[in-house]
Formats: sequence, structure tokens, C-alpha cells
Amino acid sequence: MGFKLLYFLSVIAAVSAQNYRVCISSSNPVLCQSLDKDGSQAVCESVESRIDCALKIARGEAHLGVFSEEEMVLLSQQQPEASRVVASIRDVSRNEPYAFEAVAIVPVTHTGGLDGLRGGSYCHPGLDEPDLRWSPRVLKSLERAAARTDRCPNTDTNGRTAEELEVDTLSQFFGSACRPGPWSVNASLDATLKSRFQSLCSLCGDQSNCARYTIDMGVSIAGVRNDNRHIQALECLRRSNGTAVAYVAWQHVREFFTIRNPEAASAYAALCPDGSASALSPDALAQPAAPCAFARQPWGALLANTDKAQEIQSNLRTWWPSGASPGGSGWQAVLFGAIVGGSNARVFFEDGLPSPANYSGSLRNLPAMDASPSCVPARRWCTISPLEHTKCTWLQMAAHTLGIEPALSCQQRSDVFQCLTDIRDNTADFIATPANYGYLARQHYGLSAVKLVQNSRSDPAAFSRVAALLRESTAQTNITRFENLRGKKACFPEFGGISYVSFLRAAHEREVVSASECDYARAVGEFFGGACAPGALDASHAFDRSDFDATPLCSLCKPSVTVVGNFSQPQVCSYDSSNKYYGNNGSVACLADPDSDVAFLDLAGISANLAAANLAESQVRVLCRNNTLAAYPGVSVDQNCLLAYVVDSEVLARRNDPLLNSLNALLDTLDNYFGYNAATSAQLINMEMYSAFDGAGDLLFRSTAVGLAEPSAAAASEPARNYNQLFQHLDSCTSAAPASTGLFACATLVLVALVTRLLVC
Ligand SMILES: *[C@@H]1O[C@H](CO)[C@@H](O)[C@H](O)[C@H]1NC(C)=O
Ligand SMILES: *[C@@H]1O[C@H](CO)[C@@H](O)[C@H](O)[C@H]1NC(C)=O
Ligand SMILES: *[C@@H]1O[C@H](CO)[C@@H](O)[C@H](O)[C@H]1NC(C)=O
Ligand SMILES: *[C@@H]1O[C@H](CO)[C@@H](O)[C@H](O)[C@H]1NC(C)=O
Ligand SMILES: *[C@@H]1O[C@H](CO)[C@@H](O)[C@H](O)[C@H]1NC(C)=O
Repeated sequence: MGFKLLYFLSVIAAVSAQNYRVCISSSNPVLCQSLDKDGSQAVCESVESRIDCALKIARGEAHLGVFSEEEMVLLSQQQPEASRVVASIRDVSRNEPYAFEAVAIVPVTHTGGLDGLRGGSYCHPGLDEPDLRWSPRVLKSLERAAARTDRCPNTDTNGRTAEELEVDTLSQFFGSACRPGPWSVNASLDATLKSRFQSLCSLCGDQSNCARYTIDMGVSIAGVRNDNRHIQALECLRRSNGTAVAYVAWQHVREFFTIRNPEAASAYAALCPDGSASALSPDALAQPAAPCAFARQPWGALLANTDKAQEIQSNLRTWWPSGASPGGSGWQAVLFGAIVGGSNARVFFEDGLPSPANYSGSLRNLPAMDASPSCVPARRWCTISPLEHTKCTWLQMAAHTLGIEPALSCQQRSDVFQCLTDIRDNTADFIATPANYGYLARQHYGLSAVKLVQNSRSDPAAFSRVAALLRESTAQTNITRFENLRGKKACFPEFGGISYVSFLRAAHEREVVSASECDYARAVGEFFGGACAPGALDASHAFDRSDFDATPLCSLCKPSVTVVGNFSQPQVCSYDSSNKYYGNNGSVACLADPDSDVAFLDLAGISANLAAANLAESQVRVLCRNNTLAAYPGVSVDQNCLLAYVVDSEVLARRNDPLLNSLNALLDTLDNYFGYNAATSAQLINMEMYSAFDGAGDLLFRSTAVGLAEPSAAAASEPARNYNQLFQHLDSCTSAAPASTGLFACATLVLVALVTRLLVC
């Protein structure tokens, strides 16, 4: 009895000495150990990203996390009521109520509101100005409102990028400007735009290259930095005559007009979003808040799970009584340093425990996503599972929050083939798919790669590595060269898949299959004496206008569940697990079947697949691309022996999509903000599009992706170049206009003939 009571009391004690689960980036395990000290009330909840932290806080799996300014704006849209703000995080040297305010400063004589800026000078701190962490949406708020860069009436958008349309409109609206920094993430596109629209750089100064200001700033005054881009933009305004505007942060307006050029203040006013103006009186300049602003940014904040928020806040008040780090090496100081910041960081407790919507919704009132006008329509990402769709909608909202153009949208379909169909039919625009679908997407769905995916070089398993595998007994007796494969029985993971195409390429090289045969079903079906190529009979895979009966490509396939009895089994050729020989593991199982002779497959997971099929590594041998058997049994072969060594995935879009360039640029922009380019702390929104989301990998991109590459023969990485080469035969078939495209080619020629009055066709 006494023991039971003791036990009961200790349970109570354990409960009341509450441990709070604090989100800590999974890349910081050391920190978790130093948090795990005697008496600590904080335990690490390891998270992949701060977005994962928000999801966990909403579900109660984590209790406390820290979020950046832009993340607070995102959460006010995406999870408006799912958590509570316990404190904002500010800089001790700043007394402003906001992280920043973006304001437009004009001569006090300005008339005509926003439209009155037409033809005038535009002084901008620069698209690459990092100090205040302005998102593209903030950087472009004034120009969007004044020049209506989000509308392009009567403009042909085909072949053009959102960036080009934007600066084109700007150059027509402003007479001159300095808008330094990259206008596009794509450096060559940026250079082209800079040379085409030079008026937008004309105020930057000599030899600025539109990368910065080089105007003479005069002597520097203590307390105001002449190399600050906002101060430079204000100086650019001060030197302009007539209509002009500087779009800058309020804190620098105060420095400029109270410390640096107080004599000039009375000649200027703040232009408000409603078109009114408010003079820069000494009283106005004395205020920490601007009279009006185009964007007011909430401070970053500590968010807590709603049920625990009150309790956590009162604990935080005792851990960090002054709002600063308590100092020393106690766990309270470790926690402060880990999530809040250094000696300049201060925590301001929020008494009302506002929701994210209360906290930032009123400051940054973003337009609803589908109500936002834009020149290029939203690019539609096709997703194939509910969780992938959720990741996509977070990315969509994050991109919308940052003001990335064109917008993203997400639509969910049941599988990859449904997506390929939708993209072909122009009811979706793009998808990242495994390289396995590269041939079918090109041949059957008229798609092409807008990007290839870069795989981590340090992880060989990240690439697609295709090999031809024989049983050792066969290799010793019957098959030593590709020529010997004629009339034999072959296993493929999938019809038209990467292994299928890699075999055909090798067969063309060895001249055992005629390169003039563009019907890939006939080419393989007539070469072998039987095969299992799952999907060969399905409309989703079949060669468009083939008159070849592909049944022999299914002769080897077996159902995974055999019907007991002495009657003939139904023929299967399905491309799912109802076909025992579907997929890479299925091809290994197929090779274990004495009826078959050779399997062409991706070596990913080969050890497990061999084990599952009861094959020892010593029982198989690779037939190399150069037509010799590997020197040893087993599957450890070098790259030269492989039939293909290529990237494992790519981003596909319609080959003839007139908006392909803008999609290409969008993917570069997404990679810039949500890829592995910046340190987590430098990201405006910590969401990694290649990483796991909510604990699940392989969503939107395979987890092996680390970046994007251009789908050109000149690609930097070998596996990317190899991948392009893999489709050269298909390309030659397409350009030689065989049966499948002949009709179209002839129609084109008729058209040409009509136009040129030459009788060609
Ligand atoms: C930059 O854009 C051009 C034009 O769209 C494109 O051809 C090129 O591949 C792009 N380069 C990179 C590195 O994205
Ligand atoms: C938050 O917003 C809700 C609904 O708009 C309102 O009822 C509530 O009072 C607000 N809370 C705070 C702390 O501002
Ligand atoms: C070699 O080929 C012959 C004729 O096709 C066949 O009978 C024999 O079983 C094969 N041997 C092996 C080990 O596969
Ligand atoms: C291959 O793997 C899939 C998915 O894990 C499974 O459903 C299937 O049964 C496996 N096939 C064989 C032949 O082991
Ligand atoms: C063929 O390739 C394999 C694997 O790279 C290599 O070991 C072998 O020497 C090559 N044979 C010939 C004849 O080039």
C-alpha cells in the first residue's frame, strides 16, 4: 500500500515537473545534449524545418518553436488559429513597433497619387538588399501598386518570363530608375534584361552595372552609413528633380532626415497606398512608426501549442525574467541562445496570447491567392498523394507569401500516369518524376524535361544505375554477348521504363537491333523469344500508332497470386504488384525463374531484391555495355559496365507549352528560396522543397534530389549528360517523322506550301 502511494506520488511529481518539447533543427544534435541537463524543463523535438515545427505545434507533438517574420505572415494564412504567440523577438537597439516598414518618400510638391509617379524617377534599395530581409513581395509592393506590374493587358506572354514582363512594364512607367540587384535568379536572363531595360539602371551611377549605387554620397555623417542602400536610395531621391520616389525603410528615413539631411526634410512627404501624402514634419519623424506604409512587418515570434500557451508563457517569464538571456551556462541560457538569439535579442511577452492571424494578419494583409492578378497564370503542379498535396499547398502559400511570380497551384491526381495525361491535355503543367518514366513521358505524352534533378554526388545510390543481369549458370554456358540474347527470354521492370530504354540503346550500339526501328515494342518484341515488360499492353504505356501485337512482351509475366488448379492461368501484364514480375524487385524474381534468361534492371536495392528472390550474389553476373561479361559474379560493377548511369529524376512539362520559359525561371526561383542554397537562418521561410515534409520523404521531389540542372547536352554533371544521350535515338525518330508524327509533319508542309506557294508535299 505504502509503496503504491509512493509510486502514485512520484507519478504526480513527474507530471508537474512538465517537460516542454521545443523544436530544434535536426541538424543540431549537440544542442539537445546541452539542453538535457539536470532540472531542465525543455527537451528537444527534432524537426526538419520550421514548417514541420508549426505542424507539430498545431497537433501538440511539440510545444514551443521560434518563427521568422515571414513565417509569421505565412502562418497567419495557412494556420491562422492553430497556435498562440507567447512572445515577439526584437532587437534591443530598435524601438520600432515593427521589424520594418516599407515607405514611399516623394517631394512634398507631389500630386496625382500613385499614378502621379508616372514618368518620374524611382530610387530602390535593391532586390538583393539583405539587411532587413525584404521578400520579393515587399521589395515590389510600391511598383506593383503604382505601375500595376501584375497586369499585362494586350501583352503577348508567350515565350516570356514573369521577370521580363515585370521590368518591361516598369520601364514604361518610370522615366528613370535605380533598381539594383538581380532581376532574375537566372544570371543570363538577368544580363539580357539589364541590357534591354537600361533606363531602370540609369540612376545607379557610373559603372554600377546595375548591381549597386555608385553615386557620390559626399562626406559621411556619424550615425548614418553612406554604404547603406536605403540611405543611398534616399540620396538618389534628393538629387532628382521633378517627379521622383524613393522606396525605403522608415527607420532609414528617420536617420536620413533627422541626422544626415535635416534641412531637406520639409521638402519631402510620405506617399501613402491610398494616394494621399503626409509631410515629414519633425513630429512625424520623431515617431517610431511611419505615418503610412506599403508593408508593415511583424517581428519574429515564439509560438506555443494553444493548450499549453498560458503555462509556457508564465514559465518563460521565470526562465527569462528580463526578456534577455539570463546568462551563465544554465539550461535556461542555453535555450535562449538556441532559439531566441544573442545578446541583442529580447523577448517581449504578448499578454493576450494572440493567434498568428491576430498577430500578423492585420499588418500584412496579403491578397487571397486566387484573387491575385498576375501576368503569367499560376503554374499547376501535379501531385499524386494527399501528403504530397499538402506539401505542395504549403509551398504554394510560402511562395505566395514571398510574392514569387508566377504563382504556384497544386492539383492532386491518382498516379503518375494520370498526371502525365493531365499535363499533355493542358489541365496541369508540370511534375517531377523518376527517370523511369522519361521515355514514356516523351514518346507517349509529348512532354519534355524543363529541368533535370541533381543528385548528391557523395551518394552513388542516388543515381539510376541500370545493368543487364544473367544467372551465373547461363553466363557460363549460353550467353556471353548481346548477340546471344536473340530469341532468349528477358525480364524488364516496366515497359518503356529506364531499363527498357537502356537495353535498347545498348542493343543499338551492338547493332543487334536495327536503329531504324522506332517502334520500341516491335524492336524488343521481335528480338527476344519472350519477355515480361509490365504495362506493354496498357494504353497508358503502348506505343501510339503501333501495329505490333505486344503480347510476346508479356509472355513471361506471372500473377503474384496464382490460382490453384490445373487450368491455364490468366495472362497478366499489369504494371502493379498484381504482376509478380513488375518493378526492380519483380525483375529479380523473374530472373530467378528458370524460364527466363536475362533481366534488365536498376541496381537500386539490388541486395535486398536478390535476397527476397533467394538468389545469392555469386549466382548472378552482369553483362557489360561493352559486350563482355563482368570479370566476377555479383553486382559490384564499375560505371562503364552499366547500361545507364543517369540522374534519377526530372521535371517534366508539355514540350510545346508557350509558358515553358516562365516555368523554367520559376523553378530556379523556387530553388533559390526553398532549395539547399541558403543557411536555414538566412531563409525567409524555412521550408525545404527537396527535404522530408512532416516526416515523409519522396514528396514533390525524391529525397535524393539536392538541386536542379539544365536538361542540355552541355549539362555540368555526367549523369545529367548521360540522361540526355539516352533519348537521342528517340529524338532522331521524332525528327525523322515516322508514322506517329508523319501526318502532322505533312500538314505542316502543306501549310508552308500554301504560304510560300511552293508545292512540297
Ligand atoms: C537561363 O534562362 C535561359 C533562357 O530561358 C535558359 O536557356 C537557360 O538554360 C537558363 N539557365 C539556367 C542556368 O537556368
Ligand atoms: C483575435 O481575433 C479574434 C477574432 O478576430 C478576436 O475575437 C480576438 O479578440 C483577437 N485576440 C486578440 C488577442 O487580439
Ligand atoms: C542453354 O541453351 C539451351 C538451348 O536453348 C538450353 O537447352 C539450355 O538449358 C541452356 N542452358 C542454360 C544453363 O541455361
Ligand atoms: C516488390 O515490392 C513491392 C512493394 O514493396 C511488393 O508489393 C511486391 O510484392 C514485391 N514483389 C516481389 C516479387 O517481391
Ligand atoms: C568492358 O568493361 C568492363 C567494365 O568496365 C571492363 O572491366 C572491361 O575491361 C571492358 N572490356 C573491354 C574489352 O573493353
